[in-house]
Amino acid sequence: MKWSSLSVLPLLAALCRAAPSAPGWSFNLKKTTSGIVALESIVVSPTLVVFFDRASNDPLQINNHSAWGALWNLETDTVTPLNLLTNSFCASGALLSNGTMVSVGGDPNGFVGNPGIQPGQQAIRIFEPCASPTGEGCTVFEDPVNLHLLEKRWYPSSARIFDGSLLIVGGMHEDAAFYNIDPALSFEFFPPKDSAPRPSEFLKRSLPANLFPRVFALPDGKVFMVANNQSIIYDVEANTETILPDIPNNVRVTNPMDGSAILLPLSPPNFIPEVLVCGGTAVDPAIQPANLSSQFPATSQCSRITLTPEGIAKGWEVEHMLEGRTMPELVHLPNGQVLIANGARTGFAAIAQVPDAIGGSNADHAVLTPSLYTPTLPLGQRISNKGLPTTDIARVYHSSITLTPQGNFLIAGSNPNAQFVAPAAGIKFASELRVQTLDPPFMFVDRPKILSAPAKVPFNSRVTVPISVPAALRSRNAKVQISLMDLGFSSHAFHSSARLVFMEGSISPDGRSLTFFTPPNGRVYPPGPATIFLTIDDVSSEGAWVIVGSGKPPPTLE
Ligand SMILES: *[C@@H]1O[C@H](CO)[C@@H](O)[C@H](O)[C@H]1NC(C)=O
Ligand SMILES: *[C@@H]1O[C@H](CO)[C@@H](O)[C@H](O)[C@H]1NC(C)=O
Ligand SMILES: *[C@@H]1O[C@H](CO)[C@@H](O)[C@H](O)[C@H]1NC(C)=O
Ligand SMILES: *[C@@H]1O[C@H](CO)[C@@H](O)[C@H](O)[C@H]1NC(C)=O
Repeated sequence: MKWSSLSVLPLLAALCRAAPSAPGWSFNLKKTTSGIVALESIVVSPTLVVFFDRASNDPLQINNHSAWGALWNLETDTVTPLNLLTNSFCASGALLSNGTMVSVGGDPNGFVGNPGIQPGQQAIRIFEPCASPTGEGCTVFEDPVNLHLLEKRWYPSSARIFDGSLLIVGGMHEDAAFYNIDPALSFEFFPPKDSAPRPSEFLKRSLPANLFPRVFALPDGKVFMVANNQSIIYDVEANTETILPDIPNNVRVTNPMDGSAILLPLSPPNFIPEVLVCGGTAVDPAIQPANLSSQFPATSQCSRITLTPEGIAKGWEVEHMLEGRTMPELVHLPNGQVLIANGARTGFAAIAQVPDAIGGSNADHAVLTPSLYTPTLPLGQRISNKGLPTTDIARVYHSSITLTPQGNFLIAGSNPNAQFVAPAAGIKFASELRVQTLDPPFMFVDRPKILSAPAKVPFNSRVTVPISVPAALRSRNAKVQISLMDLGFSSHAFHSSARLVFMEGSISPDGRSLTFFTPPNGRVYPPGPATIFLTIDDVSSEGAWVIVGSGKPPPTLE
């Protein structure tokens, strides 16, 4: 048979198709919407994410009124409303040592058309561990009269600490439109450790731009905090504050000048803590919002510090993102890189306070392309957006993002408006109900699998689990990483309690089992839920959901 040019061409095309280029990162839009504005999100089980919004006129209904809490099912991409009593607007939260999710604080106000809503500032919302993959029978428990915070807190932060309980930080009492002019200048705990809140000089010093302080439990049990341009280490046991250097160059990193912050991955044997703070704004917080603008440039500055005596003496090391960002969020990848996503190039957090607000948005020029930060690369080479996709969905004020147990990022929310504003012509920043995933390249190739894992793993122990490894990753020289992760609670450009602790370990010669060594104690990984990922040459498995420690209610040192 003689090959005509006509028959050769399709053959060449087929050959080209047979050798596809390596898969890249992609944004993928979900078929269902979130029903409420997912301005807070937390993964509470291998298949479920809790979303919180304010009590507003959201489309998702429950008991004949708009819902402001919901469960997102990661397997089916469907949403179920949750019944809440108190307003969860601008709250914080975390998982406790016994696997229970607790959400704390919120908005003092109700909303027209939403009868029965109770003020949220002292709220404690309990979501017990949910064994049902679909969330059936799982609900939020509230008892505002008998179970509440000591002080009113709207815009507080929180972090799970070494005994598995929650440290709750700052916030404000009542309505403050921009700066914190009615501050809660104290810390408290859940479950409580004291009969009264603990006053904090740090919170006083960081006024008026200190809402949602960025807070991390350090591997010695102390707690790092940054708010405005101030940072400290708080010793929970001694109740003392040690002042650290200011964030350099006049940059402010907490609401309404939201930057974000992250505890970089902790590695054995020394688990030396390093903190990275990115974005925010270089502006004097004595300036009132009437004299600020939605076009005021956000900073591209990232500041990094090593929390050892030498590192603190050296101070913050400065590097730059590819663009300025206010309200970015920093999220761990299982391989130790950090995703920088969401936010805007100009303006501020909060709603309708600057004279040139865009609708209700104090910010403009949404950043639509994420970047990756690689902590192990030399200064100046760590940040890149090479290969990262661009979305057309703005995620500005009141958006959230979280790593899922599946290994991709769930992105939802955005609503810089005083109520629910449906998309319409001429509205630049409507209330956003579209849900996306940002999928790393490994979602599209054969991945390692952790075939099973014990429900609980004790501290300081050796654990072996069955795995499978695809042929392409079976090289003896492959880079193997085993990460123990708290996926965190995403609210207001900050992922509280997020943590990645690398574990020593190895794959058996037959490739069928993985042995790893758990962290020495709850200071390195606060007791509670974790997701374990196996990453081989940057291809991560799905996460295995475990409880690290005894699973007892807090406080517990086991
Ligand atoms: C919701 O409203 C409908 C119609 O007004 C009524 O029949 C129903 O009982 C209401 N359900 C609840 C839970 O209040
Ligand atoms: C931090 O903020 C204070 C108060 O605005 C200011 O006086 C100080 O210079 C700032 N520090 C740095 C390093 O910019
Ligand atoms: C705005 O700036 C003007 C001129 O500097 C000043 O007089 C005024 O007090 C400022 N107003 C606010 C609300 O900051
Ligand atoms: C976990 O501990 C918290 C705080 O003590 C408590 O409210 C919750 O009911 C506990 N849940 C379980 C399942 O033990």
